[in-house]
Amino acid sequence: MLKQLDEIKSKAIDELSGISDIKALEDWRVRYLGKKSTLTQVLRGLATLPAEQRKGVGVSANEVKVLLEAALARKRKELKEEELARVLERRGIDVTLPGRPIPLGRLHITTQILQEICATFAAMGFQVVEGPEVEWDYYNFEALNIPRDHPARDMWSTFWIDYQNERGERPMLLRTHTSPMQIRVMEKTRPPVRVVVPGKCYRYEATDATHETMLHQVEGLAVDENITLADLKGTLYEFARRLFGAERRVRFRCDYFPFVEPGVEMAIDCFVCGGAGCRLCGNTGWIEIMGAGMVHPDVLRRVDYDPDVYTGFAFGMGVERIAMLRHGIEDIRFFYSNDLRFLRQF
Ligand code: PHE
Repeated sequence: MLKQLDEIKSKAIDELSGISDIKALEDWRVRYLGKKSTLTQVLRGLATLPAEQRKGVGVSANEVKVLLEAALARKRKELKEEELARVLERRGIDVTLPGRPIPLGRLHITTQILQEICATFAAMGFQVVEGPEVEWDYYNFEALNIPRDHPARDMWSTFWIDYQNERGERPMLLRTHTSPMQIRVMEKTRPPVRVVVPGKCYRYEATDATHETMLHQVEGLAVDENITLADLKGTLYEFARRLFGAERRVRFRCDYFPFVEPGVEMAIDCFVCGGAGCRLCGNTGWIEIMGAGMVHPDVLRRVDYDPDVYTGFAFGMGVERIAMLRHGIEDIRFFYSNDLRFLRQF
């Protein structure tokens, strides 16, 4: 019987070396390792053997089985690889060529800061909404207490759209700030209102290190019963600490914007010199980061909010300015000149 096993082994290995396709390999498996194969019969018949033969035959039969199974696995792998090589050759693919590097994209520095600002206010319960960049004079100025021919219009040098209505007016423009969205939001909803508005704005100005014709702002608006200047201060204080560090101090000073009363400018203590005075803060120890104020009663009236019932605060900040402060960027013109050496740093 041991001799018979030996014969099976050499015959099987012999035949295997001549096999060159998967189908023939399967036939081989059935013949030598299948249920009806001699090897399987021998293994099954072990119990009927006399005890003194059982061990020797059992061990040998198992050895042959393990050996054949291993040979089968090797052959199968070999055939599959040959098949793959044939397919690739037919299609002209060289799998040994190195892969093409996939360039890794990134978010623009403005987008990163914009998302961070919005996320900070979202965490405080503000909704994020967006509005049109081509705007009506009405929303950008009129409804915000800045009438036609009012000198306050000079605060925003405007790109007017070359379109005249029947009265000979040019009622359309590129929005100069995100504040028109205050009106659009209040027209459509009743209090309580809590929104932030990220978006592009345009200014008809010569460019220099701190001025660009296109910039981003984030507007904020909260209107409800009993909202006070203390809410404005608390909200913006929290914002400043989240963006510029928990040890930040803030300063509010009177400022003028036609659509708020009182109007304020908010500054943080300089995070470079800690207030001692340096180049970043122009030796004042303070850095202005946004305009804000309590929504003007006339603005509320225009959208049919009763100013005796509702009050609110609004704020608006320049996103590039915040990014410049955060990263020590010295010139706003870097943002949109698309120099990858600049953009890749963030
Ligand atoms: N819209 C103002 C600007 O562009 C900023 C501002 C927004 C001020 C809201 C007060 C309230 O300068």
